[in-house]
Amino acid sequence: MAIDPDDPRTWPASARELYRRRERATVGNPHLARLLCERIAREGPIPFAEFMRLALYHPTHGYYATAPAPFSREGDFLTSPETHPAFGALVCRWLAGLWEEQGCPRRFDLVEVGAGRGTLASQILATAAERFPGLHTSLRYTLVEHHSRPPAEQTHAPRLRWVHDLEVLGPVRGCILSNELLDALPVHRVQMTPQGLREVYVGCRDGELVDVLDVPSTPALAAHLAWVGAALPVGAQGEIGLEAVAWYRRAARCLAEGALLTIDYGHRAPELYSPQRPCGTLLCYYRHTANEEPYRRLGTQDITAHVDFTALERAGEAEGLRTRCYTTQQEWLRSLGIADYLAGAPPETRDDLLALVDPERLGRLKVLLQQRGP
Ligand SMILES: C[S@@+](CC[C@H](N)C(=O)[O-])C[C@H]1O[C@@H](n2cnc3c(N)ncnc32)[C@H](O)[C@@H]1O
Repeated sequence: MAIDPDDPRTWPASARELYRRRERATVGNPHLARLLCERIAREGPIPFAEFMRLALYHPTHGYYATAPAPFSREGDFLTSPETHPAFGALVCRWLAGLWEEQGCPRRFDLVEVGAGRGTLASQILATAAERFPGLHTSLRYTLVEHHSRPPAEQTHAPRLRWVHDLEVLGPVRGCILSNELLDALPVHRVQMTPQGLREVYVGCRDGELVDVLDVPSTPALAAHLAWVGAALPVGAQGEIGLEAVAWYRRAARCLAEGALLTIDYGHRAPELYSPQRPCGTLLCYYRHTANEEPYRRLGTQDITAHVDFTALERAGEAEGLRTRCYTTQQEWLRSLGIADYLAGAPPETRDDLLALVDPERLGRLKVLLQQRGP
């Protein structure tokens, strides 16, 4: 067959494979694209939150179901535990203090939600075994993860269990923690117009996904902005994480005694919805590069939005928790003694260690600690 430069079907197999990979990198997963366009054709434009849920969490085509190792050096972004093991060691040091504050109970529940591939759990358990044997003996570690499977070495690890949903847990006495979970939950997008608040829906035009503005799909969006005291200026866009707040309330209810520790990208509401952020905070990550194009690379790139910490704090307080601390990861890790690790760090790992506290990198993550009981 003669080669036609405009028709990939006539190309040699190696060239077709290159073309297929390049297409997948820009358009994304064609099955997901078709599924979205068919749904929009049937039902009309869908709220951005619904689009984000499908793009990230569709059980067969979503990013977290298909990406081989999203949070890794070979993947799309790095989280703190994937950057340097000192992160888990320092979280363990903090947990040991909490366990002592609680009177060194014989059983201490640790629930990590959105545990990824279990790296933080491995770091915490290794540090506890080596340095905090009392805590180690008391620990009952549960990892809650929707999508990943436990690594082989963790499948039968004593004191460790993997579950798929927070709901299956009984009352937790100890700590519920999450690292970069909430910024990966679906958000609604809104825009203030001279006619009032409008929601960004996802429509399909000539086979391409596009933003469509319409009246909000739920009064909860305007109610959320009023609740956190945010006034979006006309023309400004923002995201509203109703799902993050609902998750946080559920987690708070599960906590019978102890701490709810949340580490994530975000701000308090006045900063999140300030005129300095007229376009909101939605960002996508592909191969360690950020972009603002959620409709490209469908199902093959991560999509995130900053967390509203005012909303979380208030949700926790409404569930009876008291706020103990809200700070940056930089400050938190310093207070836990990251300097001890920096002093002895070999030159080849020093940059990764510094990334944990660098205010331009992971050091800008926020830490919210709320507590129930003494
Ligand atoms: C950005 S990753 C962070 C992974 C890990 N915490 C880390 O720091 O490396 C977010 C993880 O949360 C999981 N996830 C999302 N929603 C969840 C939910 N409602 N319950 C449990 N896990 C969830 C995703 O599957 C994904 O593995």
